[in-house]
Amino acid sequence: MMERLDHWMLILVECFLLCLFIVIQSACAQKGFLSLDCCADSILFTDPKTAINWTSDYGWFPDRSGCRKISEAVENYTGYPKARLFSTNLGKKWCYNLTTIKDQDYLIRGTFLFGDSLDPLGALFNVSIDVTTISQVNSSDDAEVEAIFRATNYYTNFCLVKGKGDPYISKLELRPLNDSEYIERETSSVLKKVSRVDVGGNIGEQIRYPEDPNDRIWQPPINPDPTAYPYPTSASISINNTNVAVPLQVLQTALTHSARLEFNHSNLDTGDNNYNVYLYFLELNASVQTGQRVFDIYINDKKRVPNFDILANGFNYREVVLNVTANGSLNLTLVKASNGSEFGPICNAYEILQVYPLMVQGTNQEDVDVIVALKNELLVNNQDNDVLGTWSGDPCLPVSWEGLFCQSTSGSYVITTLDLSSSKLRGSIPPSITELTNLKEVNLSNNGFTGTIPAFQASSMLISVDLSHNDLSGSIPVSLTSLPHLAALYFRCNPLLSNQLPSSFNDNSNITTDNGKCVDQGPSRSAQVIVIGTAACGSLLFTVAVGIIFFCFYKKYRGRFDRRGHPMTKNAVFALSSMDDFVLKSISVQNFTLEYIETATCKYKTLIGEGGFGSVYRGTLPDGQEVAVKVRSATSTQGTREFENELNLLSDIRHENLVPLLGFCCENDQQMLVYPFMSNGSLQDRLYGEAAKRKTLDWPTRLSIALGAARGLTYLHSFAGRCVIHRDVKSSNILLDHSMCAKVADFGFSKYAPQEGDSGVSLEVRGTAGYLDPEYYSTQHLSAKSDVFSYGVVLLEIISGREPLNIHRPRNEWSLVEWAKPYIRESKIDEIVDPSLKGGYHAEAMWRVVEVALACIEPFSAYRPSMVDIVRELEDAFIIENNASEYMKSIDSLGGSNRFSIVIERKTVPPTTPTPTEPSPITSQALAPPQPR
Ligand SMILES: *[C@@H]1O[C@H](CO)[C@@H](O)[C@H](O)[C@H]1NC(C)=O
Ligand SMILES: *[C@@H]1O[C@H](CO)[C@@H](O)[C@H](O)[C@H]1NC(C)=O
Ligand SMILES: *[C@@H]1O[C@H](CO)[C@@H](O)[C@H](O)[C@H]1NC(C)=O
Ligand SMILES: *[C@@H]1O[C@H](CO)[C@@H](O)[C@H](O)[C@H]1NC(C)=O
Ligand SMILES: *[C@@H]1O[C@H](CO)[C@@H](O)[C@H](O)[C@H]1NC(C)=O
Ligand SMILES: *[C@@H]1O[C@H](CO)[C@@H](O)[C@H](O)[C@H]1NC(C)=O
Repeated sequence: MMERLDHWMLILVECFLLCLFIVIQSACAQKGFLSLDCCADSILFTDPKTAINWTSDYGWFPDRSGCRKISEAVENYTGYPKARLFSTNLGKKWCYNLTTIKDQDYLIRGTFLFGDSLDPLGALFNVSIDVTTISQVNSSDDAEVEAIFRATNYYTNFCLVKGKGDPYISKLELRPLNDSEYIERETSSVLKKVSRVDVGGNIGEQIRYPEDPNDRIWQPPINPDPTAYPYPTSASISINNTNVAVPLQVLQTALTHSARLEFNHSNLDTGDNNYNVYLYFLELNASVQTGQRVFDIYINDKKRVPNFDILANGFNYREVVLNVTANGSLNLTLVKASNGSEFGPICNAYEILQVYPLMVQGTNQEDVDVIVALKNELLVNNQDNDVLGTWSGDPCLPVSWEGLFCQSTSGSYVITTLDLSSSKLRGSIPPSITELTNLKEVNLSNNGFTGTIPAFQASSMLISVDLSHNDLSGSIPVSLTSLPHLAALYFRCNPLLSNQLPSSFNDNSNITTDNGKCVDQGPSRSAQVIVIGTAACGSLLFTVAVGIIFFCFYKKYRGRFDRRGHPMTKNAVFALSSMDDFVLKSISVQNFTLEYIETATCKYKTLIGEGGFGSVYRGTLPDGQEVAVKVRSATSTQGTREFENELNLLSDIRHENLVPLLGFCCENDQQMLVYPFMSNGSLQDRLYGEAAKRKTLDWPTRLSIALGAARGLTYLHSFAGRCVIHRDVKSSNILLDHSMCAKVADFGFSKYAPQEGDSGVSLEVRGTAGYLDPEYYSTQHLSAKSDVFSYGVVLLEIISGREPLNIHRPRNEWSLVEWAKPYIRESKIDEIVDPSLKGGYHAEAMWRVVEVALACIEPFSAYRPSMVDIVRELEDAFIIENNASEYMKSIDSLGGSNRFSIVIERKTVPPTTPTPTEPSPITSQALAPPQPR
């Protein structure tokens, strides 16, 4: 009997708990509020004032190491005084993936309070909703960012994107908007709150939930019109219009004036932006009749609504929605109508929302689904992996996930490169990898991947696959080697993997491969350098002659890459593993006879340039390829050594952004090098030479040239595990092919960076005046950072369109570096930007490039970024510029050419200036991987 009772008791208790649970659930579900107090100590707490239930954000970011206490300086802060700081060496974007209902409207509000003492250098970072960037958070200026949007999916990402500073967040609130009419007309837009004013509200008080069921926060005006006076509050007033969007508590108060009411907002974004203005009116005086209170509504001195009468429709409540384009300020003025109105204007509440069009589509949905699946497959064995930990939000936008590289094709982004090398990953290779249909390059090297290689689909676009240095087993599948586009396959140093390539490989012999031979690359590499370095020109011939057969291969290979012109890095290093391989694979240049060259150049008919090495002639090979032939001049003192140097280096170095060597000639004391002819000449010529007079380079092209050259140099700096230093980076050495792709030329001066134990390293300083690294000059110590300095000068040329040295200018403008520096430090970049670029660039993209340039020309090499960092920054700038251009294009296609120019102006918003006193450390810090704080 007792047992039975116990049993019933238990069921009762269970039922009670269950019911309680359901009650809580439905209470929460009914509202659908999500309120995250970042880093809060207790999991769930209720704000006593609003009864809003808050939770911590550990469900999104379990890591507590980024939690910081908000300093006491933040007054009247309700909630837990903590903020989450996102600062790791990896990752640029952190997203709260929030569950939403598709096509439902939401209000989202992020609060960014950090407190003065811990404020990370007046951090500047971006806030985006999915891929639409809506705001930049600058220290405590914009402590709150609120927007209204329509969910396009069953989840929405609220993302913080690293800018000059590391992002942080203290609160995040999501509120579903039921029956809201905000996004009725413009479905593809995000509305950012500029102002929401309870016009007659008391200073220091605000109205939100539960008075406003949507938890909008209504605040009294910040600078109320001093001549206006509050309308006597009328508690008894009732609204006889049922369709009211504003809480009664807000409408019950108002300001009025006998003649005119004015509300000025002057802190708006500059540039022509669109705003929606919502005005809410309730007649508080019951004795006023229709026609007795009539006024005109002006926005920025333009009459938008004449003779407005609240009572005109038979109700005592009326609202007005106006769209307006404004630049910097928005003034609302209500003026008593001239034709005999008895009472002056009244205003109860208004809102100003900035309209952000959805600028770009996100990543192609198929790619998103696959990469998310791939992430989940990888997570199974790599729970706490640092790289995967940063993968959140849209894979490509606004910045791509660590290790991904994306391209835009017909309006949407696709993933083209997956580089997970050296990411400490284990487990099997995720099969999803084969479903990334746009993937061209995969690098999984230097991980702990085990198991077999998955089967690839024949439709794959893969060009380069690197699986080296893992623990893979089995053999290379036929499906991989028979991929139609595959040009490079590396799988060395997988002890359990069979070196046997499938027979189909032989049919497809234009694949470069390391044959799976695991040899330590470093020493064998330098050994070869010594061999080649000491070999005379003649003895090289033997090695090279064998390589001629690979010329054909090379042409195929090159044609494949050039035709598409993808701006991505090709890991197409010709792997060298043994001396045999070296003979067969490393040299793909051709040995031309003197006669052949003379025919090709029509006996040196067309001189196209002169350099330290000698003269350069234009020619055409029998197969129609146009070439540039460098002929060593008899008087050249640097000849032989540079010739060998360049031959040695160039024959191994292959990169899309480096001018490849096609062949050479070494006959009758004549030394010549043959390169493909670059039909668009040099960057120098394009910037301020003859070509510039015909047509100036636009900014997006300049940016892509800068990025291309940076990628080429990055490749050199990390070539074969050692660093090759160019030593003569300058705009005349950056050539442009037919598609304006930048290729770095002239390796005549290049050198391997000195390594420990090297003796007899030549210390003579080389370079070109105007580009020379002052530290290298004074210490004679050569490092890759000398190239970085010169590259910085090239960036300044690209930005300003000026020569590095010009003694025909006033004395203080002789040196480009010395002239530009003070302007950059004072944030006056307009002074240095090439006048012909005016209005044609995205300010944020320009700023990124200017900052990179400034960091590069740091007098102390230690403060300069590496080329890898530079590429990363420029890629960001490129994406920003690209998005802006896409946006302009889309606007342009809507018609209306004047709109186009409006948008350009909108883009040239001067961003908040960097600290002028100490720009250098901050700038270099911005580029260097952030240090954990
Ligand atoms: C908070 O939770 C309580 C139940 O614990 C519920 O009654 C209340 O409606 C919730 N508040 C909100 C704003 O959802
Ligand atoms: C904090 O609250 C006090 C009194 O409630 C008020 O006087 C003060 O202006 C508030 N400070 C801020 C920054 O809102
Ligand atoms: C708005 O008013 C302010 C202050 O009176 C004024 O400086 C500004 O020029 C006005 N803006 C416009 C667009 O009329
Ligand atoms: C609503 O109130 C106004 C002013 O109090 C009055 O003039 C009007 O007749 C009322 N309308 C209705 C439908 O009750
Ligand atoms: C406001 O919207 C209307 C149509 O809804 C349009 O005709 C008008 O040009 C817009 N005005 C501005 C200033 O954008
Ligand atoms: C966000 O979460 C949903 C599940 O709620 C998941 O399906 C989706 O893939 C996530 N999105 C991203 C980009 O991680």
